[in-house]
Amino acid sequence: MSEKDQLRTHVYDGIQEYDNPMPGWWVMLFWGGIFFAIPYWLYYESGVPGRSVYDNYNQAVADNLRLQFEEIGELSLDSATVYKFKDDPKWLKVGASVYEMHCVACHAAKAEGKVGPNLTDDYWIHVKEIGDIAKVVEKGANGQAMPAWGNRLHPNEIVLVASYIAGLRGSLPAGTGKAPEKNAKQIPDWKAPAGEKAKTEAESPQTDDSKPQKEAPENEKPPETKPAL
Ligand code: HEC
Repeated sequence: MSEKDQLRTHVYDGIQEYDNPMPGWWVMLFWGGIFFAIPYWLYYESGVPGRSVYDNYNQAVADNLRLQFEEIGELSLDSATVYKFKDDPKWLKVGASVYEMHCVACHAAKAEGKVGPNLTDDYWIHVKEIGDIAKVVEKGANGQAMPAWGNRLHPNEIVLVASYIAGLRGSLPAGTGKAPEKNAKQIPDWKAPAGEKAKTEAESPQTDDSKPQKEAPENEKPPETKPAL
């Protein structure tokens, strides 16, 4: 019992109590916490862009992505590249996260279509071959009803989200999701563009745009027989 301990004046049922003040360290933490919180809140939560925990996190993710992208270099938006990453689980994760962040609002969580068309079926408006997906994403379509992402996403993100979408084709049973748009046409299965082999072996960039769009589909099966994933 220290000299600070004072007997309170009241008595209840014969019980008296001391007035024990909170220990000094406790009071310091209490006030310290309050005084720390004010500038902390003002700095991080006052809405200045780039400061909040979320912004820092997103920044870190973006930096990390850029670091990882050094591994694959800057991809070109062509059929060979989009086709190549279609079956690459590691990089498809990047495509999937781009999709979740930017595309779900209009194309829905499973790409079954909402405001934007169903991306899992065989009917496409602007796409004849697999690389066209990346081009639509880059440039947008229909007077920006489908927004252009060319200046908002890294080219690699565009390629990888295109590969991701390409891989979703047939992922829902036929008849589920949004019905094909009126101006959409059924297109043949994705196929490796001619020369793709050479590219994957030599890792040389290729320009694929010069070749004619329609060419004899050799190794392709009719879309109806494609099994749902
Ligand atoms: C604001 C809504 C909106 C967002 C967000 C959006 N889209 Fe679209 N998208 C559309 C609409 C609408 C169309 C149909 C355009 C048309 O009718 O020509 C479309 C068309 C497409 C097409 C072409 C489909 C076809 O049949 O040819 C692709 C591919 C596509 N979007 C991919 C994406 C990707 C990838 C993202 C995310 C990076 C995305 N979209 C985000 C609305 C959107």
